[in-house]
Amino acid sequence: MPILPSLAADEFEDIVLLGVPLWGWQIALAVAGVLALVLLARTIWVPTQRSLRAWALGNIVVNAGIAVTGATVRVTSSGLGCSEWPRCTPDSFVPIDTGHAAFNAAIEFGNRTLTFLVLAVGVITLIAVLRMTPRRRDLTRLAVIIPFGVLGQGVVGGITVWTDLHPAAVATHFLLSMVMVFITVALYVRLQEPEGTPRVVVGPMLHTVSIALVVVGFLLLIAGTVVTGTGPHGGDAAAPRWNLDLPAITRVHSSLGWLTLVGSAAAVLLAVRGGAGRPARLSSVALLVIVLLQGVLGYTQYALELPEALVVLHVLGSALTWVAIARLYFATTRLTPPEDAVTTGADAADRAEAAVGATGPEADHDGERSAEEPAPGR
Ligand code: HEM
Repeated sequence: MPILPSLAADEFEDIVLLGVPLWGWQIALAVAGVLALVLLARTIWVPTQRSLRAWALGNIVVNAGIAVTGATVRVTSSGLGCSEWPRCTPDSFVPIDTGHAAFNAAIEFGNRTLTFLVLAVGVITLIAVLRMTPRRRDLTRLAVIIPFGVLGQGVVGGITVWTDLHPAAVATHFLLSMVMVFITVALYVRLQEPEGTPRVVVGPMLHTVSIALVVVGFLLLIAGTVVTGTGPHGGDAAAPRWNLDLPAITRVHSSLGWLTLVGSAAAVLLAVRGGAGRPARLSSVALLVIVLLQGVLGYTQYALELPEALVVLHVLGSALTWVAIARLYFATTRLTPPEDAVTTGADAADRAEAAVGATGPEADHDGERSAEEPAPGR
């Protein structure tokens, strides 16, 4: 019994609220959201450490969030609610006479309008980073990638529609979102560090495990998209599917989940017993908890024959798992200014550990700049 409503494809009429079609409300909401962001953006014309961190965090949330709303499009079979791109139908940019149920068109069109919010957050963050003085080249590079990545995702979204939701296109769309999430986490973490070269600040074993987790974690995401591309949630009843054995490919996916769990447990042990800094300890524990919950959710949804709401939750869990993996990876290194650079990794680790314990105007208890302090140079 589906938890989310699915309507017959012949229910074509628009959904109208207070005399305005739902798509009109969706556009109005998106425009209001972008305007609100632009007003807020004034606060970052003179960026502070706190405002920059908030915008960077906003980027993580919207890029992970749109992957989750994209899953809602799939599980409600709304993927072709707009059958064209960038237009919704051959004759219109908005969902009128789509040939699909109004509910499906509203979901697909709503997800399209969210892209403008994701883009706005990316552009505003780029402006804030460009306003830092002295300008940080490393952060600028990351901040430039984000809005261009969102535009690129728009194109991949279009290819997804043009290929009638081919599972390879759907998977690429999701996986690129995860690459974007990784970059936004990098921006969030590196903003809190001085410009410099990344130095390993934990034991070499923990650093290696964190890299392995990035690789295994991404394979896990890829395998998940293959399970989705084989299973019932292709985004439309007529969407092409991978011709694979669902239980077999799910086993490959869950095995990678177990490997991620083992890696996360090893990371916790190494971080706690090796006396790693607080960011590495916290992020390894967070990762372990998230992977455990995500694994339970994965088995539950499989046993219950993939109810839509659990599948959407599982995609949310995937995004959180990936954020936690990225956070752990970036917690194992720290940018070190050239004047502080030392010749051996061990020395670098000692110094960074000392920095983590430092207090004073340059660092709070986490070795990070105080939230109230203006961004470098201001
Ligand atoms: C532990 C970490 C796990 C992560 C990060 C993860 C991630 C993912 C991802 C990214 C997808 C594809 C979502 C999409 O394409 O929209 C997926 C799908 C799926 N996963 Fe997992 N997964 C995990 C564990 C598990 C486990 C242990 C199972 C147990 C069987 C499982 C079962 C499934 C199933 C059945 C699907 C297909 C759902 C659908 O029809 O769309 N997952 N997973």
